[in-house]
Amino acid sequence: MAYNLLQGKKGIIFGALDEKSIAWKTAQRCKAEGAELVLSNAPIALRMGTINQLAEEVNAPVIPADVTITADIENLFTKAQEHFGGKIDFVLHSIGMSLNVRKGVHYTENNYDFTHKGLDISALSLHRILQVAMKQDAINEWGSVVALSYIAAQRVFPDYNDMADNKAMLESIARNFGYQYGVKKNVRINTISQSPTRTTAGSGVKGFDGFVDFAEKMSPLGNATADQCADYCVTLFSDLTRMVTMQNLFHDGGFSFTGVTQAIIEQMDK
Ligand code: NAI
Repeated sequence: MAYNLLQGKKGIIFGALDEKSIAWKTAQRCKAEGAELVLSNAPIALRMGTINQLAEEVNAPVIPADVTITADIENLFTKAQEHFGGKIDFVLHSIGMSLNVRKGVHYTENNYDFTHKGLDISALSLHRILQVAMKQDAINEWGSVVALSYIAAQRVFPDYNDMADNKAMLESIARNFGYQYGVKKNVRINTISQSPTRTTAGSGVKGFDGFVDFAEKMSPLGNATADQCADYCVTLFSDLTRMVTMQNLFHDGGFSFTGVTQAIIEQMDK
């Protein structure tokens, strides 16, 4: 069901790779709520993924940008504003990658070239995007920026590897830039800490299926799906959440505040 929550709003969505992507589902939901969109992803992902299918469906241009390259982001924001004929109301940062995870390098043995690359892509990119947006004055007053995080920023999940550190920094940037952009332009910046979700990035984590099952049993409401995450993003882009900023918002069926559940106890008793 649609509520026209984003009627007249214009947004940039980063990170739709394929139909499993959280960004893909969010683009579909934003469109259904009346938003106009520009889609972006790294040039290599555009070749490997199926984003053109989504672009057609949501009637949005695709503008490539590697988020580690400032000039790419400048070009994206310039072209997006040309396309919209004005400023942007919301941005979704749905981007993450760790070479240490991908190549199976243990946390204690991390290769620092990999670490730098992953940090640049997964965390610093939010700062870079916000810096470009601020310099170009590209976001309307009361605009909203959302980035996706995971609870490994606060608690240890050993196989999440250096992505845990990346997420901690991502959340910190949302808080600190959220202060600056709030004071300057009333732009709000938040992170959503999402349940484990079966996507390309998610499935790269070692033992991911066990992880998903555990979280499902440890959450009173069960795991939040990618579609439900998209719904939550819509509320944060809408005018109904204007005073929410600098927050890390758990979207996890209650996992983050649960000590143990009956389902886990029963499993242990087996
Ligand atoms: P996904 O693999 O569909 O999306 C990750 C995206 O990052 C891809 O589209 C990829 O092309 C993009 N990306 C990687 N390097 C890039 C670069 N240099 N420039 C521009 N884009 C680049 O996976 P998913 O799960 O939808 O991930 C979206 C976000 O959600 C990520 O931040 C992820 O960490 C976060 N998240 C995912 C969870 C999960 O279990 N899947 C749980 C909590 C958070």
